[in-house]
Amino acid sequence: MIEVEGLSFRYPDGTLALEGVDLLVREGERVALLGSNGAGKSTLMLHLNGLLRGNGRVRVLGLELAERNLAQIRQQVGLVFQTPDDQLFMPTVFDEVAFAAVNAGYSQDEVRRRVATALATVGMGGTEAKQPVNLSVGQKKRVALASVLVTDNRVLVLDEPSAGLDPAGRRSLIALLRGLPATMVIATHDLALAEALCERAVVLRNGSILRTGKTTEILTDEAFLRACGL
Ligand SMILES: Nc1ncnc2c1ncn2[C@@H]1O[C@H](COP(=O)(O)OP(=O)(O)O)[C@@H](O)[C@H]1O
Ligand SMILES: [Mg+2]
Repeated sequence: MIEVEGLSFRYPDGTLALEGVDLLVREGERVALLGSNGAGKSTLMLHLNGLLRGNGRVRVLGLELAERNLAQIRQQVGLVFQTPDDQLFMPTVFDEVAFAAVNAGYSQDEVRRRVATALATVGMGGTEAKQPVNLSVGQKKRVALASVLVTDNRVLVLDEPSAGLDPAGRRSLIALLRGLPATMVIATHDLALAEALCERAVVLRNGSILRTGKTTEILTDEAFLRACGL
């Protein structure tokens, strides 16, 4: 589903954020992306639907991440940003969550139905008329998640999905994600969430992959975790 080969990326200010990253994610797999602050997790995720373009090769759903395939890739890859304020841009929660469903061409009734289901799923039912700007961070994060759940994405790329959620919200998020058939890449500092959801984990440090393996093995290697700031 996701093939990254030799990916390197430098921000305009000269920061080398990714260097020679290789990553393979099979269909239906959920992979945790671990690493301390600044390791390159968010940068890597922004490459998976072409918001950033580095050197190297990225293929998603068997398609080369090139201009001609971007629309098709973005229709099937739901990306939830680390910071919801970078994602939310519509005047109401309804418009925000409806956006992708409208773009996908669903009828008005179907859009309304899907928005209601997506909001209920993240525990934000009945907030359609609210303005995203007035929500708490955790609520914004849930709306951002609803905005990608509203269509049937085959791939979900989630950047710190449990950040800002209360314990109950976090538990329901884990249950929700476990029940979805989508292939997922989940960047997280929430090691328990990684363990609950992802059989495999990839550890980034300074823009390179330090280790990849079974999540339980990595998370029980305390010396290793400490050495990479986790
Ligand atoms: N817009 C940006 N401009 C310059 N450097 C950036 C930008 N965004 C992130 N970086 C830098 O790139 C590196 C990787 O950051 P990031 O991908 O956000 O890491 P993580 O998500 O693992 O915390 C860090 O050194 C960070 O400071
Ligand atoms: Mg990040």
